[in-house]
Amino acid sequence: MNDRERHDRHGRRRTSTLGLIAAGVMAVAGIATAAPATASPSTQASTLGAQAAQSGRYFGTAVAAGRLGDSTYSTILDREFNMVTPENEMKWDTTERSRGSFNFGPADQIANRATSRGQRLRGHTLVWHSQLPSWVSSIGDANTLRSVMNNHINSVMGHYKGKIYAWDVVNEAFADGGSGQHRSSVFQNLLGDGFIEEAFRTARSADPAAKLCYNDYNIENWNDAKTQGVYRMVRDFKARGVPIDCVGLQSHFGTGGPPASFQTTLSSFAALGVDVQITELDIAQAPTTAYTNTVKACMNVPRCTGITVWGIRDTDSWRSGDKPLLFDGNGNKKAAYNATLTALGGTPAARSTTPPAASGPSGLR
Ligand code: G3I
Repeated sequence: MNDRERHDRHGRRRTSTLGLIAAGVMAVAGIATAAPATASPSTQASTLGAQAAQSGRYFGTAVAAGRLGDSTYSTILDREFNMVTPENEMKWDTTERSRGSFNFGPADQIANRATSRGQRLRGHTLVWHSQLPSWVSSIGDANTLRSVMNNHINSVMGHYKGKIYAWDVVNEAFADGGSGQHRSSVFQNLLGDGFIEEAFRTARSADPAAKLCYNDYNIENWNDAKTQGVYRMVRDFKARGVPIDCVGLQSHFGTGGPPASFQTTLSSFAALGVDVQITELDIAQAPTTAYTNTVKACMNVPRCTGITVWGIRDTDSWRSGDKPLLFDGNGNKKAAYNATLTALGGTPAARSTTPPAASGPSGLR
């Protein structure tokens, strides 16, 4: 997705004891439960990840290795989130910058830190036309590209084998607009429509323990041709036994938040027999209603297994000017944070009555 596509898109839209045990059992079994009408106080947590876990879900964030030394950033990361997606460090331009030469250092820094803190990992992403080194995008021979793609998948998934909850195996392969077809890319142009199936089959063999996801943006509105194109692909894959376990809906929204059909989209994909995951959530200006609507849509679909926001503080965001996240630039909780926690069934902490230190930032952390 290039900046123009992203910004064009934004312009347009721009928990009682038995219950806890049941939620716990469901969580272990990987089954989320629908949102309880009103969570009893004993099941209400005061952080995003802990509260999501009450219904067998996760609440995660994208993480940048370069920000882990920032104590405000890492304190929030460890307190609030139980799922971590490396924002850029597992992408092809970092992991295999030149053919056959792998660099897992930046992603290992994120992965090892997360694992040591009991946070699970999403792998992002194996096959994507963007952040792709030119030695790949310049390949002109189908057999060479097929070998390179499968070797990349096997090498990267092999390095993280058994450590990744879900991989975005293929990212953003469908075209924007009304075609419902695949976008042009070196993979599509040389290997044809079948490259997605081949990537998923290779991925299943590389790490059978990982959930395999197709991830994309602008597939949140049920009526959009792109959504329907992805739906037809997933339905076909499930009918033919092509290994796929989930659909990642990136959910980069404008100020209006999710489309009215968002829950229909989530439940329709889930009805095909896959999980749905909100994988890159951010909402321009972070309206509380928009975040509430997004979270409630997920909570109302049992196979919506978790939500990942695409960054921690507004200043960490790829779209920082939109102030789209749950924490402000000083790491203070925004109103959207409290709305999100409440929609998950939790109880926002009482507002701090301690006057901020003379020189320090005011507000909550
Ligand atoms: O690592 C280089 C650094 O060496 C260099 O000095 C610097 C300045 O040029 O650039 C750095 O690379 C940047 C990279 O982020 C790491 O910070 C790239 O320029 C920049 O384009 C890249 O942006 C990322 C973007 O994907 C690229 O498409 C964003 O951080 C990241 O949040 C964003 O995430 C994507 C998802 O992967 C897929 N879905 C859409 C989402 C938003 O675009």
